[in-house]
Amino acid sequence: MGLRINDTIPNLTVTTDEGTVTLHDWIGDSWAILFSHPKDFTPVCTTEFGAVAQLAEEWAKRGTKVMGISVDGVEEHLRWKKDIETAGGAKPAFPIVADKDLTLSKAFDMLPAEAYLPEGATPNDTATVRVVFIIGPDKKLKLSMTYPMNVGRNFAEVLRALDALQTANGRGVATPANWTVGEDVIIPLSLNDAQAEEKFGPFTTVLPYLRKVGLKG
Ligand code: BEZ
Repeated sequence: MGLRINDTIPNLTVTTDEGTVTLHDWIGDSWAILFSHPKDFTPVCTTEFGAVAQLAEEWAKRGTKVMGISVDGVEEHLRWKKDIETAGGAKPAFPIVADKDLTLSKAFDMLPAEAYLPEGATPNDTATVRVVFIIGPDKKLKLSMTYPMNVGRNFAEVLRALDALQTANGRGVATPANWTVGEDVIIPLSLNDAQAEEKFGPFTTVLPYLRKVGLKG
């Protein structure tokens, strides 16, 4: 069984190219993003890591640490980081886990289906699929998204989802489809109209169960 939303993530001690870390300590009071990728020195992965490196200031603004994961070793990660900087134009200033024994990949269920078949596993199946885990300061999984090996992730969407989580959890609201920062949010159904007015001020009723409001501050 993989990790489910609101599960506390396993507090594993892992080897990274920046040293050994225990996940809960590394997260501390921050938000965190763990993102797995199949293999070092591969084309799609290199563009993805470049994209994460380019967003360094955005992660910092959101109080969020990022950590990559692959089944290659520390030596490979260190050499590959130079390629990532060359291709992406930004230094990857975040740790990458060297998950050679697949401990983390298995604990977080990052391997493809074939890797779990007794006779079906090939060397390729030990490569992780592309998973993003967004974890809160409470060490609980808030969101995950999984992509196959041949489709690179959209890190603008990861950033948008992080904004939505921080707003929804921090302000006690929900966010509508395609929401971005500054747009109206949804008042939860747990509040009646009077409670909603008291908490948020005047709001718009689109349908009895769909009430929208702009957030101040
Ligand atoms: C990639 O392009 O990221 C990739 C290619 C082959 C295997 C794994 C990853």
